[in-house]
Amino acid sequence: MTDTELVSLARAVMARAYAPYSGFQVGAALLAVSGRVYLGCNMESASYSPTICAERTAFAKAVSEGERAFATIAVVGGRNGVDSDFCPPCGVCRQVMREFCPDDFRILLGRADGAIRVFTLAQLLPESFSL
Ligand code: THU
Repeated sequence: MTDTELVSLARAVMARAYAPYSGFQVGAALLAVSGRVYLGCNMESASYSPTICAERTAFAKAVSEGERAFATIAVVGGRNGVDSDFCPPCGVCRQVMREFCPDDFRILLGRADGAIRVFTLAQLLPESFSL
């Protein structure tokens, strides 16, 4: 699974986002150490606070299938499903990554023009809290 392939999977699942309130669609593709990929999209709610981000959807799917070790996540997002710019994960999602992932867990941000930025979790969540 190349970085470009993982970003493409995230872009494909972005189209399934349920985001009638914000109009901002996000897709995530989470690569487990097992080699399996778990996809997620954001899912909004009329009462707003139950909204779940694409990244946490992917983690919930993976952990509920028995996965505990992760290598990389790709994230893309944008208004009306057009990823014209990078979509870095929100703080809550970064904390969820911290729960399961090491410092060198890789976070790929994709953009429609094909550009990919690569970060580690340590870069995006320095001095983090964890058990
Ligand atoms: N969103 C994500 O899915 N992931 C993020 O990391 C940032 C925000 C979603 C939540 C909401 O449905 C929409 O984007 C606008 O905030």
